Amino acid sequence: MGGNSGKRRSAHSYGKLDRDGFIHRSWMKAQGYPADAFDGRPVIGICNTWSELTPCNSHMRELADYVKRGVWEAGGLPLEFPAMSLGETQMRPTAMLFRNLLAMEVEESIRGNPIDGVVLLGGCDKTTPGQIMGAASVDLPTMVISSGPMLNGKYRGRDIGSGTDVWKFSEAVRAGAMTPDQFFAAESGMSRSRGTCNTMGSASSFAAISEALGVALKYNATIPAVDANRQAMAHATGRRIVELVREDKRLSHFLTREAFENAIRVHAAIGGSTNSVIHLLALAGRVGVPLSLDDFDTLGGAMPLLANIMPSGEYLMEDLHYAGGMSALMAAMAEHLHLDVETVSGQTIGQQIAGAEIFNPAVIATPDAPFKQASGIWVLRGNIAPDGAIMKPSAASPQLLSHRGRAVVFETIEDFKARVDDPALEIDASSVMVLKGCGPKGYPGMPEVGNMPIPQKLLAQGVTDMLRISDARMSGTAFGTVVLHVSPETSVGGPLGLVETGDEIVLDAAARTLNLMVSDAELARRAALRPPEAYDTTRGYVALHRRHVMQAHLGADLDFLVGSSGDEVKRESH
Ligand code: FES
Repeated sequence: MGGNSGKRRSAHSYGKLDRDGFIHRSWMKAQGYPADAFDGRPVIGICNTWSELTPCNSHMRELADYVKRGVWEAGGLPLEFPAMSLGETQMRPTAMLFRNLLAMEVEESIRGNPIDGVVLLGGCDKTTPGQIMGAASVDLPTMVISSGPMLNGKYRGRDIGSGTDVWKFSEAVRAGAMTPDQFFAAESGMSRSRGTCNTMGSASSFAAISEALGVALKYNATIPAVDANRQAMAHATGRRIVELVREDKRLSHFLTREAFENAIRVHAAIGGSTNSVIHLLALAGRVGVPLSLDDFDTLGGAMPLLANIMPSGEYLMEDLHYAGGMSALMAAMAEHLHLDVETVSGQTIGQQIAGAEIFNPAVIATPDAPFKQASGIWVLRGNIAPDGAIMKPSAASPQLLSHRGRAVVFETIEDFKARVDDPALEIDASSVMVLKGCGPKGYPGMPEVGNMPIPQKLLAQGVTDMLRISDARMSGTAFGTVVLHVSPETSVGGPLGLVETGDEIVLDAAARTLNLMVSDAELARRAALRPPEAYDTTRGYVALHRRHVMQAHLGADLDFLVGSSGDEVKRESH
């Protein structure tokens, strides 16, 4: 005990000779640690979002063991602890409602415990951003390991992608082009191993962002979950986090404005999930880096698509790994990156990607011959979305990027589900579907329903895409000409709430405008008639969320969680 613990925060618990030191050490020894485990070595918390209710993260207990090997080997003490797990496909009403709760739990678990550095084990969509946000508000040396993607899905001799093909198959069933038995067979073939969605969904996007931000080791995003190389990467992460503690390089050292700019550009080049916008804005708020919604368009809006991965492309994450991974992709776009940004590996981004080769040009392109010309996030404004809305052009139909159509309004997602397939619904391929009541506060939690299914009668006519607008999010695995995150949301008085069926809406994506062709006077008349929103939740976390959640263009963090409280705990008590 004591010894060379220096100024490490764990020394405050394990390095003392008094009664408190006895208590801190003695109870830990109940787990079989030898006395020299508390000799002042770096204590590494392994924050694990493992859960059988989060199948994408269900192998992470085993992965944590490989981190521990590395920590022991480097002379640290690894201590694994759980954090709330957010299974995207299991949680109701939406996992996003709980991202900030996870962030709060992670923050307080790190700060309240005698640890010097942290490894974050996350993967499924909201787990990684929630963990990094929480860790950023404590600001210890921190590294990220993602679950890794599932193996490629297989169905009838071809590869199928998580989510992306679910939307296609479910539309095919509704259109009568796929039988229920075929649907079930596809279901069994899609998820062939543990790991995150094998498409460039939200989980893969944020795993790639973790690499681009420099807070994870290279290949974090693409090594398949069940590949032994991910275990080796976990081992290497365990070694490296101990060194980071010794170097006292904290998360804020890496999360600079330049790192965020790299992340936004890489996110554009991979055709990343629209959800990343919200998460990056929230993360920047935690570390005090100035970042706005417009930065996504300014920095990434013109980036071409370099990753031919579903939903914007044809291949899957396993293919991206074999094609060279994020290092090869980032090397191809090196001229667009800040190469001197430091990473947790000890190397700069430039050193990390130097010499990385593209092994399959069908999967990774170069900027002079991209898969699509525009791939980043486009930020739209207009009288429907004064604080902004976003769309993903790489997943949209080019002919709908300039569109004028008649609004067909659904007041809630339940209203949508009840009426979308009604043969009497007055709608055609040129209509603009508008969905209200799905923002961060109103729903609450901003569900992934913005990619509204096409009405059955239009599917039967061969319609595969329509302009859709909402204050909701959509799955990163989804596609279509979908305008999302309209801000402010309808539940706080956003003008999207004033749209009525029959109104004309004009999208000019190239000009970044989205407008309702209704006079200001008429909109003011409608606003005066609109009753104030009444919420039915008065207790628990949901009430806290509703009182404090910020709008989508600010990252949908809770207002009192913006910023950092640091790692210090001023009072000693039990
Ligand atoms: Fe967990 Fe897609 S549902 S990563």
